[in-house]
Amino acid sequence: MQTVRTSEELTRAVAQLKRRGTLALVPTMGALHAGHMALVEEAQRRADSVAATIFVNPMQFGAGEDLDLYPRRESEDAEMLEKAGCELIWVPSTDDIYPGGFATTIKVSGVSERWEGEARPGHFDGVATVVAKLLLAVRPDLALFGEKDFQQLAVIRRMTADLNFGVSIIGVPTVRDPDGLALSSRNAYLSADQRRSATALPKALQAARDAVRGGKPVAETLSEARNLLRNAGFSRIDYLALVDAQTLEPVDRPEGEMRLIAAAVIGSARLIDNLAV
Ligand code: PAJ
Repeated sequence: MQTVRTSEELTRAVAQLKRRGTLALVPTMGALHAGHMALVEEAQRRADSVAATIFVNPMQFGAGEDLDLYPRRESEDAEMLEKAGCELIWVPSTDDIYPGGFATTIKVSGVSERWEGEARPGHFDGVATVVAKLLLAVRPDLALFGEKDFQQLAVIRRMTADLNFGVSIIGVPTVRDPDGLALSSRNAYLSADQRRSATALPKALQAARDAVRGGKPVAETLSEARNLLRNAGFSRIDYLALVDAQTLEPVDRPEGEMRLIAAAVIGSARLIDNLAV
């Protein structure tokens, strides 16, 4: 496995890999866990070579968010990627991605506006802009993203379709701990007590899914799920909603493919999760 930093090194390494066949890209912010590795494994099944990027993207963090606290573990990450059979890691510096004078932002309307978009203004502009830069620098045949960040996946699908990126975007199911909590680099912010209470998030989503399937009215279902979170010690619920799986618009009466999505704060961790209905 080769680790590259500058765009010159990247161009050379990518050209070499492309001579061997198709190339898959797995963009990450590092602090890798089994969720990220599921993307790498799926990438290996689908392409001849796999490249990953590690870049904690300042543009997608708001003022007062956890940019400085965000865990950074490059050598452990590299070891995990190497073991998983990844051929190339690109670890750009902030100056490589945003050189002096950088002034362009990609804004995806519609699907990015509610939920995370409302709770974290500017977040998806940062995500779309950096993912565009990573995809244009590597030009992979496919790129893989987790369903864990369901709205992010929808935003990236929209952007790559709208701008003719010519890359196929693959969504990978969420990897969870045995107790149901979705793996996240931000789980590291939880104390042992908070970690136990945090399982209320997947439990609330499962209960809501079962209630919707059982025909309980949507408003009542969502209000019960929110109560479950509050009683478990979540201090803030940014949203807990039933949405159309494609448009992410709220659904009042169950119909078609839907998703339960939620974001809530426990201790100093803001956790997000979602479930297919
Ligand atoms: P990061 O949070 O590091 O996640 C990298 C990728 O791993 C994303 O596609 C995310 O959805 C996926 N992922 C995270 N936890 C997962 C889990 N438990 N199961 C399955 N997949 C999981 O998301 C980002 O980074 C950034 O926004 C990025 C796309 C890299 C742009 O900066």
